Amino acid sequence: EHQRSHFLFMCKLTVREMSVLRRAKEMLRQRNEVLALRASPPRRNERFTPGSPARPFTLRTLNGSLSFPHGGAFPGNCSLVFHAFTNRSAFSECLWSSEESVLALVQGIPRNAHLVLLALDGSASRDVLWIRDRIEHVMSSLRCEILNLIHYVPLPVYDLGNWIPSLLYEWTCYDHGCDLDQAVFQSSYLSTPVVVKRLDARYDWAMVHWDEKLTWPLADGGNGCTFPLYVRHAVAFVTQAGDCSFFTKVFTMEKAGAVGVVVMSLPGHPPQDMNCKDEECNTPISIPVSMVPYTPSVFTALRFVTIFVTSATEGNLAEMGWFLYPSLSFVVWQAQWFDYLSELESRLARPATLLPVFNRTVMQGNEGAVRIVTVPEGLNQYTTLELDMALSCPGTRDESCAPWDHTVQLNICCRPNGPLCGQELGRWITPFRRQIGHWLTTVSALLPLFDGDKCHFTMKTVPWAKSWLISLHLRFSSPELSQSGMQSLSIPVRSGGTFNSSYNKKYFPLKFIPPPTTVKVELYAVITGHGSDENGCGEFCVTSHHFVVNGKFANIRIFDNAGTPLGCADQVLSGVVPNEHGTWLYGRDGWCDGREVQPWRVDITKQVSFFRSNTILYYGWYDGKDPQPRLEPGYIIMSSYLVFYTSS
Ligand SMILES: *[C@@H]1O[C@H](CO)[C@@H](O)[C@H](O)[C@H]1NC(C)=O
Ligand SMILES: *[C@@H]1O[C@H](CO)[C@@H](O)[C@H](O)[C@H]1NC(C)=O
Ligand SMILES: *[C@@H]1O[C@H](CO)[C@@H](O)[C@H](O)[C@H]1NC(C)=O
Ligand SMILES: *[C@@H]1O[C@H](CO)[C@@H](O)[C@H](O)[C@H]1NC(C)=O
Repeated sequence: EHQRSHFLFMCKLTVREMSVLRRAKEMLRQRNEVLALRASPPRRNERFTPGSPARPFTLRTLNGSLSFPHGGAFPGNCSLVFHAFTNRSAFSECLWSSEESVLALVQGIPRNAHLVLLALDGSASRDVLWIRDRIEHVMSSLRCEILNLIHYVPLPVYDLGNWIPSLLYEWTCYDHGCDLDQAVFQSSYLSTPVVVKRLDARYDWAMVHWDEKLTWPLADGGNGCTFPLYVRHAVAFVTQAGDCSFFTKVFTMEKAGAVGVVVMSLPGHPPQDMNCKDEECNTPISIPVSMVPYTPSVFTALRFVTIFVTSATEGNLAEMGWFLYPSLSFVVWQAQWFDYLSELESRLARPATLLPVFNRTVMQGNEGAVRIVTVPEGLNQYTTLELDMALSCPGTRDESCAPWDHTVQLNICCRPNGPLCGQELGRWITPFRRQIGHWLTTVSALLPLFDGDKCHFTMKTVPWAKSWLISLHLRFSSPELSQSGMQSLSIPVRSGGTFNSSYNKKYFPLKFIPPPTTVKVELYAVITGHGSDENGCGEFCVTSHHFVVNGKFANIRIFDNAGTPLGCADQVLSGVVPNEHGTWLYGRDGWCDGREVQPWRVDITKQVSFFRSNTILYYGWYDGKDPQPRLEPGYIIMSSYLVFYTSS
């Protein structure tokens, strides 16, 4: 009963999000065709590559100076996050004027992250004082210690006199959300075009973007709360005034035939991050939507004005990935990633016997990446096996990385025709256009897959994906408190398949008798849901997976994180690559973009009879019953094993 109500509650919670999530996926799918055509520009005279050592610098700060490297100033494990502000960018202005955004920074920034705040323009000293006010305004006394972690640099970037400006100019921003997006209003009644900064509506809500090559007539849409007269085939210019939501304004203009909407903020208010709320998100918006600051001059000649949209690129300091919307949460997530990496490094520093399999090997196409490795003798003395896996990209920068969150599967065969040949040893999901993914996954239960001395490793993603570079080391070790004796592995229990109404019909109880000298029995499963029916199954729906032993012991895995708005963003500290492109923040069915799929392990020793035949039955449910999709069904990818630990 307890499980059941929890389950229903979670489903209800996800319903609202669902149509947004589904549309996001669909839109992204269409968008990709455009992205794929755009070759990344060749990089000449590249002076700074991610991963290369930072050079020394000294910066004057409001409080004194900041030097790197500097004896004692920075503890061993810390990160320095640089951010260059410009008030010419609506995105940048919104980042610091939104209280929610600054609060996310103050509350979330790890204590070992230093934030260096720079400003691009001549007004730098005023700009950083303003930022300091914004921070102090939301600062709770609880976190006054973070004041020491923020360094304000009152000189414009071009006056810094060190290598930092060059890096900023070289690492320009690309793609949606780039800082210097603008709108240009021109008219025979205006002596010069009016150029204003522009902030596009939240990427995963209003997903249609401006075609920056076009020009449109502009029409007065009033405050957007009531049906306008003349906006058909024009871009509707509406004010932020009126007692209706952004969604209402945009939806009303779209119904009236507008081809786009530009919302002008109230006098004295910066552009805001426009997004839908709750039920509104169920109605898709199919025209581009932006916000611009209060610009009364546009009104003076409104009926004669045309608009076109331009964008310029802007420097981004460290590769921070992609800011999906203007929030300093993205700074926090990137800083958390550095914490994750230092934890990973300490785990990698533990002694182990290494077996290199792939070293920046290209994985692409139907073949994926293949390597035959001779396994050293004596592997059976080890009880721990970890997969040290990194996914990177052909170029030096994130922009060379493949789009999409696809599964990557590692299969192994050490004895051709053996019962375990071709089983899955590990699974990951690609980080959408980021090259920093690195994970360590414990898969000791699968040591018995090494049942021969020449092992054939195959790593693959979908054949149509752009190439990834994979690095994989196997790490064998035996922690002091190791399991008694050796392991052996039964045949795999079950695999997934199309998640439709016959999904469970193909399963029946499987019989097994534990081998002699068994001391422990474990269920081990790697399960992920993909695709999208009308309920968002399997990627964004909550599915449950049941392994019933001997007809009475139910072992249940419920993916109740699926479809939650920050379900994956909340897991950066445990290995989710932050600030990917796409909608990496949402929880998925058993997985996250840019992360290994965590094996699920259950000790079922007490449920098993050691001397008689036992049964295990698997089935998978959506919403507490067999899936009944009306649309194209999703699918479940599952590898599951019964693991018998025997004393030697
Ligand atoms: C940023 O620009 C807006 C006009 O777009 C202005 O009202 C605001 O005061 C400026 N903010 C800062 C910090 O200079
Ligand atoms: C700024 O100066 C104050 C007072 O001298 C000092 O307590 C504080 O630690 C300084 N902060 C930084 C970031 O250096
Ligand atoms: C990977 O390959 C690079 C270049 O070929 C080589 O320098 C490096 O030592 C290799 N790393 C490992 C762990 O084998
Ligand atoms: C479910 O999918 C499987 C595999 O694609 C197919 O064979 C089966 O006919 C489908 N069942 C229904 C009810 O559509």
